Amino acid sequence: MNDGMPRVVTIREMIRETPAVATIRFDHAFDSLPGQFCMVWVPGIDEVPMGFSGADQITVQEVGTATRALTSLTPGDNIGIRGPFGNGFSPVGRVLAVAGGVGVAPLLPLAKEGSVATFILGARTRDELIAADILADQTDLHIATDDGTAGYHGFVTGVLDSEIDIASFDTICVCGPELMMKSILDRLALRNMEQRGQFSLHRYMKCGVGVCGSCSLDPDGLRVCRDGPVFSGDQISSSEFGEYARDAGGQKQKI
Ligand SMILES: Cc1cc2nc3c(=O)[nH]c(=O)nc-3n(C[C@H](O)[C@H](O)[C@H](O)COP(=O)(O)OP(=O)(O)OC[C@H]3O[C@@H](n4cnc5c(N)ncnc54)[C@H](O)[C@@H]3O)c2cc1C
Ligand code: FES
Repeated sequence: MNDGMPRVVTIREMIRETPAVATIRFDHAFDSLPGQFCMVWVPGIDEVPMGFSGADQITVQEVGTATRALTSLTPGDNIGIRGPFGNGFSPVGRVLAVAGGVGVAPLLPLAKEGSVATFILGARTRDELIAADILADQTDLHIATDDGTAGYHGFVTGVLDSEIDIASFDTICVCGPELMMKSILDRLALRNMEQRGQFSLHRYMKCGVGVCGSCSLDPDGLRVCRDGPVFSGDQISSSEFGEYARDAGGQKQKI
């Protein structure tokens, strides 16, 4: 049951994925759908949103104070987990997944359950690819690196343009940097296929349950925490997606 209260869990394992990303496995399995997220309370520091990369795990990229504190914890330490929250992916038919960087986290459970036919995994360089072995076992994996050290030399959208027939997929699940996701939405829009896209958005979150408004998306006021984090392409094609995001103080910043 999710009563919205934090559950204290004990870290069982800390798995280093790349120099700046670690998977934290805890001693409790949450009943979450692929794409749902939780609010992670780091004692004495902050509470931050994280996708579930498995029922009992999150995959964290070090970008600031809370994420660095999280990845420096060790087995036996406690953190608080509120959730699962949000809607998750709803894959139908033949599924393509596209991930940039740590955006692979919420897509991993989909691939592990066998729902993804083809997966495009992107990173800046070979050392920053996350979960490539697992994805290669479960899916037809295509890799893209910005510097060409593995797979296609360039962005995931280059793989989409040169190696994949996007129209042959019924659902396209995407998570990664917002400009990457916007380029994929633009490609779907060119073929009038926006409704086939499912995009997992990242917005500044405070409450995680639709109350504070910090994650709202103009012009319809969609709350990413409550109405998302996964939106279909047609839900967001006329929104601020790819244009603006709010900062910690609620001010809109150009992306
Ligand atoms: C639904 C959702 C799922 C996410 N899933 C993952 C995941 O699986 N793995 C992962 O590594 N990261 C994930 N993130 C991003 C993660 O929440 C931020 O990287 C983290 O909050 C940064 O905190 P910090 O204190 O380390 O960094 P800071 O130095 O505070 O900030 C660095 C960056 O993170 C953003 N950020 C800071 N606090 C928040 C917040 N409360 N909400 C949203 N963004 C914030 C800032 O806008 C800034 O761009 C997710 C975000 C959302 C909204
Ligand atoms: S984080 Fe408060 S409304 Fe979404």
